[in-house]
Amino acid sequence: MPRKRLAIDEATRSKDLAGTTYIVTGANSGVGLETTRQLVTQGAHVVMACRRVEAGAEASRSFSGLAGTHEVMRLDLADLHSVREFEAAFTAEHDRLDGFVCNAGMVNMRRDLERTTDGFESTIAVSYFGHFLLTELLLDTLKATAPSRMAILSSVVHAGSPKNRPQLVLDDLNYERRDFSGMRAYCEAKVATVLYAAELAQRLESTDVSTFSVHPGWARSNFGSGGPLPMRIAMAIMRPLSRLVSDSNTESAQTTLHCLLSDDAPRHSGAYFSQSSVLYRDKECRAGGWPMETPNPNAKNMDTARQLVALSYDLVGLDNPSSANRGDQVSE
Ligand SMILES: NC(=O)c1ccc[n+]([C@@H]2O[C@H](COP(=O)([O-])OP(=O)(O)OC[C@H]3O[C@@H](n4cnc5c(N)ncnc54)[C@H](OP(=O)(O)O)[C@@H]3O)[C@@H](O)[C@H]2O)c1
Repeated sequence: MPRKRLAIDEATRSKDLAGTTYIVTGANSGVGLETTRQLVTQGAHVVMACRRVEAGAEASRSFSGLAGTHEVMRLDLADLHSVREFEAAFTAEHDRLDGFVCNAGMVNMRRDLERTTDGFESTIAVSYFGHFLLTELLLDTLKATAPSRMAILSSVVHAGSPKNRPQLVLDDLNYERRDFSGMRAYCEAKVATVLYAAELAQRLESTDVSTFSVHPGWARSNFGSGGPLPMRIAMAIMRPLSRLVSDSNTESAQTTLHCLLSDDAPRHSGAYFSQSSVLYRDKECRAGGWPMETPNPNAKNMDTARQLVALSYDLVGLDNPSSANRGDQVSE
């Protein structure tokens, strides 16, 4: 496989973003931090939506001297009340949103299922349900600012393997009736993000709001660092080797940045973007990434996408604005 060109093109990275406003969730660490750094470098104002405000403030000290500005606001995606509080605080202070990056994510590396206070399985709560609620609450602001963009982080693991394609179990998204597996929950959460970006793109077709799902590559971030001790030791031992095949956080931020800033990306609204991946060894790499067709049929089934969204409105306690017209029903 040819060496990746892990940088967005010059025209994209030299765009002047003065006067624009972005939200990046999970902005204190890894891919989110480097996505934020580039946006601030180009002059944007970035709202760093962090579960740990102090970690966001600490990380953002390294932005000193950059052209743009930033602020840190508290957001716990595992708590729908916190999501609503964040949106209220954001819209009280800001009347534009040029880009929304649903970046935060986690995987439950322990054996036991963890539930959020709202009753969701924790992995899908953070990657998908929290972001779903926040996106839906921010849609009017995104539309009012259009052209605007939304990118949600998925992962190559959403594709699985030819013999084992992850799929959503719509009548048990939160593992109430199934045996729990942390990795399966993570794969399903990332299928949900691919489907949501595609559904949203169709729903917003008549607007100038573009949506994308993103695989960042294998990032040398803090991802998975909260696992049990034996796993942490194994990861520490593997780290020097993994450097040969993994990407820096800056490199891994390029696909999100391409989706947010390039002139080309909006022509592919709804698509799953990746710079390169083990799934596409035959494909030439492209700076910042390009729209890849997911090999997982379950991640491109638009009936499933619409059912997921209809169900999500219900589960997060929002009125579905189009249910009366569309007559959506979730099959049991
Ligand atoms: N690393 C990879 O190789 C890889 C591969 C494919 C996809 N991804 C995806 O890329 C995204 C970024 O991950 P990363 O690699 O940069 O990992 P990371 O360094 O662990 O960053 C994850 C971020 O998500 C935040 N977060 C976790 N739970 C949260 C919650 N309840 N509310 C708000 N924020 C929360 C974390 O906050 P705290 O610091 O407070 O925990 C952190 O800021 C994730 O969606 C991940 O699934 C990563």
